[in-house]
Amino acid sequence: MERKTFYITTPIYYPSAKLHIGHSYTTVICDAIARYKRMQGYDVMYLTGTDEHGQKIQDKAAEAGVSPKEYVDGIVEGPGGVKDLWKLMDISYDRFIRTTDSYHIESCQKIFTQLYEQGDIYKSVYKGHYCKPCESFWTDSQLKDGKCPDCGREVYEAEEEAYFFRTGKYADRLLKLYEDVPDFIQPESRKNEMIAFIKQGLQDTCVSRTTVPWGIPVPFDPKHTMYVWVDALSNYITALGYGNSAYHDYDRYWPADIHMVGKEILRFHTILWPAMLMALDLPLPRRVFGHGWLLLDGGKMSKSKGNVVDPVVLCSRYGTDAVRYFLLREIPFGNDGNFSNEALIARINSDLANDLGNLLSRTVSMVEKYFAGTLPGPEGRTAGDYDDELRAVMAAMPGNTTRAMDSLQVSGALAEIFKGIQRANKYIDETAPWVLAKDEANRPRLAMVLYNLCEMLRYAATLLQPFMPATAPKMAAQLGLDTAALTYDALENAPAAYTVHKSEVLFPRIDAEKELAELQAAEEAARAAAAPAPAPAAQAEATALPIEHRPEISFDEFCKVEQRAAKVLACEAIPESKKLLKLTLFDGEKERTILSGIAKWYKPADLAGKTVVIAANLAPRPMLKGKYVSEGMVLAADTEDGGCRVLFLPDEVKPGAPIH
Ligand code: ME8
Repeated sequence: MERKTFYITTPIYYPSAKLHIGHSYTTVICDAIARYKRMQGYDVMYLTGTDEHGQKIQDKAAEAGVSPKEYVDGIVEGPGGVKDLWKLMDISYDRFIRTTDSYHIESCQKIFTQLYEQGDIYKSVYKGHYCKPCESFWTDSQLKDGKCPDCGREVYEAEEEAYFFRTGKYADRLLKLYEDVPDFIQPESRKNEMIAFIKQGLQDTCVSRTTVPWGIPVPFDPKHTMYVWVDALSNYITALGYGNSAYHDYDRYWPADIHMVGKEILRFHTILWPAMLMALDLPLPRRVFGHGWLLLDGGKMSKSKGNVVDPVVLCSRYGTDAVRYFLLREIPFGNDGNFSNEALIARINSDLANDLGNLLSRTVSMVEKYFAGTLPGPEGRTAGDYDDELRAVMAAMPGNTTRAMDSLQVSGALAEIFKGIQRANKYIDETAPWVLAKDEANRPRLAMVLYNLCEMLRYAATLLQPFMPATAPKMAAQLGLDTAALTYDALENAPAAYTVHKSEVLFPRIDAEKELAELQAAEEAARAAAAPAPAPAAQAEATALPIEHRPEISFDEFCKVEQRAAKVLACEAIPESKKLLKLTLFDGEKERTILSGIAKWYKPADLAGKTVVIAANLAPRPMLKGKYVSEGMVLAADTEDGGCRVLFLPDEVKPGAPIH
């Protein structure tokens, strides 16, 4: 018989900065759901990836002095990048899509062309307020105090030729969809927001730009690039091979069972995306879940606000499973939840060290102490008080957990498992095995009590696998069970006997006070290291810019960088980019061209005739789709306001002078 399929997706992340614990939240939740389904025997496709086009990436790359593709390559594939983070968080994705992958680009171009040819996309002029960090246009009524309603930053008036998708045409069909498929938008409360949004009059959606070169070109009008949402949303089908031949699982997995998204992008996923699919005459996803945010001090932990908590640090201090557990358990799914180190430590201590860890270590210790590690089979055991109640809780665990998972109550699912763990700890107190052990006549009863405890632990280990994938095998090993045997279907196959092996404590208790003090000290040290010492004489203003520490290098390595004085012979703006200036320089030997991302701060006339510092032996780099080749880099210093100042040299320094 063919296995049932299950397709789940996360949003694709902007690799414009290091991902924070808020991003891990969605990915860990999807991971737990995907693993749970696999455990139940489903054929699962778990898709995640990165959304790599747009203004923000282009700006970051220009700041870093690299091409956008080089920039995203580093941040996605490089050390400490997105893929490394998912490895650290034990994310079992089946496929990772990058929107710069050529197959995705090919599919998007086909989709855009089809929609245009059938009249669902048309050309017009866009007027509105544009927020650059959010890459969003806003109408008057959407602005909050004249600023971007998402990030609170300044917006600017913009008008440009653009292509539009006829979202408005699909308003009635969307409302009908929400009625016919009541589960389509979840949680229920958010559905009403979407209905209200449509009823106030659904505008068509701007789907192209002429001002952002870093995007997928519109094939029939290449001065336009696709506006990021068409490119981004299509990933859910292009990653399965829709419109390309890189993959062939579209028929197998589409429509998606769940698109999991943050609440601020629910609108795009429940209005624009289904409307696009209706236009393409494709089946619609079954459910879109808009989860709440993980807040830090009451604010969204967004990189735009600089409020970041590093998952790498947290995992190295407490272990990945503890961090996963916190994310999955602490926040009732759908709501916002607060993140704090204190809450994380409290969860680890109460649930993991006390409830789960203690149950395992007490049970295994008692089996070792009273039965030399091996419990007798059924004939050596006697039932007694409290057994039925414990077994009833245990028998209900898989069903209750599955029901909770099916309704995406991930925290509720964990609560069901921990109900069993807590009931078992109470059972130890009720049956007092250490009292039973005092009388040889009670051995059959003692054996039953310990067997029941092992059984509860086996159930817990099995059901916890999707949530804490590294902990469950450790539990199995102490219970003498083969991890491969911890399957959902095997839950009812009680082993005849248990042979246990006591081992390390699963989750050592954390001294909260000491740990919080250490964390605070570590944070202060990091902050102090990032802040430069004020100049002693004039008490010059300290810059708020963080110091970017790089690994130590040898003198020889430093000498490999050839820094040279060069005179700017000519400087011009280039039509393809608002960021870059094209400099023609004399470097002491020859003329060379350098493209520098300084157009925001310098006019060409500011540079002409000046002597600057260049990195002269950088490999030449093709830029702006190969139209220019930049031969080196002009050195500049960052300023606090996000700008930069080119390092100008005094006139007596001649072109070609080495700088060391
Ligand atoms: O929105 N708590 O990318 P993104 C919970 N590229 N979730 C959070 C969070 C927090 N503090 N901060 C971010 C994008 N997220 C688009 C998606 S999909 C076709 C395109 C979540 O990197 C956020 O809600 O800004 C979103 O769902 C996801 O991280 C990616 O955010």
